[in-house]
Amino acid sequence: MMVRVLFVCLGNICRSPMAEAVFRDMVQKDGLSSQIEVDSAGIGHWHVGSDPHEGTKGILDQKGLSYEGISARQVTESDWDDFDYLIAMDDQNMRDLKAIREKNDVVVGKLLDEIPGAKESDVPDPYFTGNFDYVYQLVSEGCSRWLERIKNEHSLKEEE
Ligand code: 4NP
Repeated sequence: MMVRVLFVCLGNICRSPMAEAVFRDMVQKDGLSSQIEVDSAGIGHWHVGSDPHEGTKGILDQKGLSYEGISARQVTESDWDDFDYLIAMDDQNMRDLKAIREKNDVVVGKLLDEIPGAKESDVPDPYFTGNFDYVYQLVSEGCSRWLERIKNEHSLKEEE
């Protein structure tokens, strides 16, 4: 069985590709790459086909995380069929996702929802704030919590 996880932000060049890279690395380290599929997409179309933003590439390089193969695409209606989890970076992304479609068997949430007592509920957009380091901290904690939840919900274990 494959569990499919899509990270969503506005432009798909800063926050959600960072989450995709971080989550993909965690999944690999847990030996779950054959059981969890990871992708990211943006609400807007402006950056379709682009690599991640220099700031996102910079922090991922610094942390030794690969962003190979990650390039921007726009969210589609069929993402609601193709993914089990849609994980948004902020409230606006959530609203925009739900305006495209709604389906009961898809888990839709925000990245920071799973962090107990989180200081932020939305991941601030570094395209405007420039603070990629802070976003990385939030993204890595959020990804780690969501991975725990997803492993529990699907009883996923490393394959021997
Ligand atoms: P992201 O940041 O949603 O984290 O990828 C943005 C990137 C580009 C734009 C907005 C946000 N933009 O308006 O082009």
